[in-house]
Amino acid sequence: SAHQWQAPSSTDSRGPCPGLNTLANHGFLPRNGSNITIPVVLKAINDGFNFQSIDILRIGAKLGLLTTDAEDSFSLHNLALHGTLEHDVSLSRNDLALGDNVHFNETVFTTLANSNPGADYYNITSAAQVLVQRLAEDKIVNPTLVNTVKEFTVRTIESGFYLSVMGNVTTGVAPKNFVQIFFREERLPLEEGWQRSEVPIGEENFDNVVLGIANISTWAPSGEVVCPWIRLQP
Ligand code: HEM
Ligand code: MG
Repeated sequence: SAHQWQAPSSTDSRGPCPGLNTLANHGFLPRNGSNITIPVVLKAINDGFNFQSIDILRIGAKLGLLTTDAEDSFSLHNLALHGTLEHDVSLSRNDLALGDNVHFNETVFTTLANSNPGADYYNITSAAQVLVQRLAEDKIVNPTLVNTVKEFTVRTIESGFYLSVMGNVTTGVAPKNFVQIFFREERLPLEEGWQRSEVPIGEENFDNVVLGIANISTWAPSGEVVCPWIRLQP
């Protein structure tokens, strides 16, 4: 059917966002991953995830435009431009300074994969612990890592994304196998029982998840870059 999962071809554009890559692999976004406009990406996120076009998504989509010289569209690979949206200390990709900031990396992903031991789900508490742990690990291997309040804010929102989209936005609980399939295969775990959120993911319920994570993450800025900065162009 139109929204069957299909692996990308060698010419399809994919990038550092597992959410948008997944939407392209299912044909909610153009499967070639190119010429993505703001209305196209917002509609795809709604169709695929029942995620309303809230401020944070509109802002994220607009920032995507800063990663290319094109006037009103981006490709998924453009999003890898370091310093606009792409940042260090990702959950499933390496830091640019260490090599590949675009493709899924199982070693990096180990921290999230192994979190919340003894349970078959991830939640707000485990997501916060993963953010803290990833930063501690990254400080050891990347002395140039950038960790300002901007990176912390974006990382917290992204953790809210996987909990709400793969799990339950009301409780912030997501089955481990759904989250792992989402990251590793960039596939909606439909055969495994995942369903698009019945509750629209919106400002209020999503903010609760993100604030929950932020409130229990012990975080402080570090490194030489002290002032939050957004890279404005390629
Ligand atoms: C990460 C872009 C929407 C899930 C990222 C990154 C970019 C990006 C550039 C890389 C950041 C990094 O880790 O260095 C966007 C844009 C969006 C969007 C432009 C649309 C406005 C979504 C949605 C989801 C999602 C709706 C829902 C599942 C994620 C997750 C990460 C991420 C979980 C973290 C990956 C990691 O840390 O390894 N996104 N994204 N994104 N995105 Fe998206
Ligand atoms: Mg990154």
